[in-house]
Amino acid sequence: MKIKCLVLINLCICLLNVNGQNAIQITTDNVGLFYRVGDNGRLYQTYVGKKLEHSQDFVHLPNLGEAYIANGMEDFFESAIRVLHGDGNPSLLLKYVSHETKQLQQDVAETVILLRDDKYPVDVKLHFTAYSKEDIIKTHSEITHREKKPITLYNYASSMLHLNAGNYYLTEFSGDWAHEANMSESPLTFGKKVLDTKLGSRANLYCSPFFILSLNESARENSGDVLFGTIGWTGNFRFTFEVDPENKLRIVSGINPFASEYTLQPGETFRTPEFIFTYSSEGKGKASRNFHKWARKFQLKDGEKTRLTLLNNWEATYFNFNEEKLITIMDEAVKLGVDMFLLDDGWFANKYPRGNDRQGLGDWEETKEKLPLGIGKLVEEATKKGIKFGIWIEPEMVNPKSELYEKHKDWVIHLPNRDEYYFRNQLVLDLSNPAVQNFVFGVVDNLMTKYPGIAYFKWDCNSPITNIYSPYLKDKQSHLYIEYVRGLYKVLERIKQKYPDLPMMLCSGGGGRTDYEALKYFTEFWPSDNTNAVERIFIQWGYSYFFPSKSMAAHVTSSGWQSMKFRTDVAMMCKLGFDIRTNNLKPEEQQFCREAVGNFKRLESTLLDGDMYRLASPCESDHAAVMYVEESGKTSVLFTFDIHPRHAERNQPLRLAGLNPKKEYELKEINMMPGARSRLSCNNKKYSGEYLMTVGIPVFSSNHTVSHLIEITEM
Ligand code: DGJ
Repeated sequence: MKIKCLVLINLCICLLNVNGQNAIQITTDNVGLFYRVGDNGRLYQTYVGKKLEHSQDFVHLPNLGEAYIANGMEDFFESAIRVLHGDGNPSLLLKYVSHETKQLQQDVAETVILLRDDKYPVDVKLHFTAYSKEDIIKTHSEITHREKKPITLYNYASSMLHLNAGNYYLTEFSGDWAHEANMSESPLTFGKKVLDTKLGSRANLYCSPFFILSLNESARENSGDVLFGTIGWTGNFRFTFEVDPENKLRIVSGINPFASEYTLQPGETFRTPEFIFTYSSEGKGKASRNFHKWARKFQLKDGEKTRLTLLNNWEATYFNFNEEKLITIMDEAVKLGVDMFLLDDGWFANKYPRGNDRQGLGDWEETKEKLPLGIGKLVEEATKKGIKFGIWIEPEMVNPKSELYEKHKDWVIHLPNRDEYYFRNQLVLDLSNPAVQNFVFGVVDNLMTKYPGIAYFKWDCNSPITNIYSPYLKDKQSHLYIEYVRGLYKVLERIKQKYPDLPMMLCSGGGGRTDYEALKYFTEFWPSDNTNAVERIFIQWGYSYFFPSKSMAAHVTSSGWQSMKFRTDVAMMCKLGFDIRTNNLKPEEQQFCREAVGNFKRLESTLLDGDMYRLASPCESDHAAVMYVEESGKTSVLFTFDIHPRHAERNQPLRLAGLNPKKEYELKEINMMPGARSRLSCNNKKYSGEYLMTVGIPVFSSNHTVSHLIEITEM
């Protein structure tokens, strides 16, 4: 009943908003995206930016560009859609038909605008979901037709946005294995800039599916106008930024149409992935917090639930383990105080035992020699010890040296008449094939059925799609990149339906899959195989622009030269885990780690659910600082890092953020090595929020790789 009323109210508001201008307004508390129907019946975007309050002004807004520009008519730049009709006509002209706004739940409204070609029965629906409190707008489109013959889609954007500013600065996030999410900003001038990937499965290996666009001037953390955009698609994506001769910018976002012409049957609907964006006129920090809040509340699997701390055995043993060794590591997990032991790669296959990464992938049965009593014994041991048990899988892939490959070459993406090319000695299974979807689902389902005590999966994906040819799709090869991702979602959806409470880590060799559609099915992702703490400061920093700390797994390992404290402090900025033989640590280090796990659990709601403020950038100085403020404001945690400062560097006090200037706070350094005394002058002192945010406190030194964790308690 309540929802029905809201729908009605909203429809009314919507009609009122038409305001003689045929205006359609999609708004959140602070962001507005406006459209207008022109006299020619076509739909134009008139505005995107900070929400405008004075509706009498809307009439003055100029048309920025057609909402969803089709190919073949009078526009000479990048289109949102390109279609070839059944009769060979390559044009489309979309006119406004209707629109409707529905309240989906409190503070979440969806507007759907229907456009239709006036000569051909082709419809495009533009969907916009506005999350008022989080200032997030999600958009996608749906293309359908009632022509007699199929039509071909050559491009099919999720979203097209038009902007008009003096200058544009684009920040991209690029990288490679163990070197992810490097940010670089460059101005956009006339012409096109494309960010895309063609890797298919491990799609984000070189380029992350998100960007920051700063308007007029390069945006800062707490000032400037920025648009943050990302695409929810676990495959090839493309963002095209095109500046035209009038210096107007259009951003076209969606699936990468490269090698992906799509034959759309009459009556079939092509649904594009979601493009998700926010706009902030208070700089990048606010835009990140918008994304973090939205992700926790609406998108990330179990976004509002707690997370499991864990001890993983990958870097601790690699493939070299047996049952006895694993049980000893479980004892280490118990001593450490973490919630779970996570068994990594190397536990399966018998004909070609997985003793290295060259064989066995695809044969998901325990290696008898290593684990004579199987996974069951390990689950039992973990349960006896009072911890949970998690397990690694890479179910979309196969080593040619495996029984699966021998039996089912028809399930493998490979070219029938060429030599195979391998990435990490493996090939990708053909998820466009329903039989393969069943197999991949079965990897999880069989393990869960046999061992219901399994509490967690780490789902890896180490190869891009190579040798691109699907034995299943036959003459529809250009559908493969798309059907692969759809097949993956079908599997993930089945897993979610059957095991709704099963947490899973989205791992793709580190950073290879980092999109918000996949994260509907995963509680966290693995940002990088690079676990060196200094490198991780930068990598986590990059991802923090779009992802909340809760979604990023960070493990303390023996990689890197830094102290145990430094490594642990870095990992505690995200979802804490360990991947190290703790028995080999010094007794005081072991005690430190135990206490750190205790601190992490005690402060979890601040660290994983609090508002994050980036205070000092490692990209702009030799230091880094990040702060988390719990929702109530009562507890905050400040992380500071000296990375590689110069000798006798002059350090300025660090100004904090997110506090109440009128309140008083007590500062206490925590996560100290046993017996160590704080060297910070602010330790155990009280300050007003005003002082902390205006004057600041001295926390940086000119020592290398020194870190501090400061708990800030409201008095
Ligand atoms: C790549 C992952 O990122 C690592 O954490 C580990 O699970 C290996 N794969 C195992 O092969």
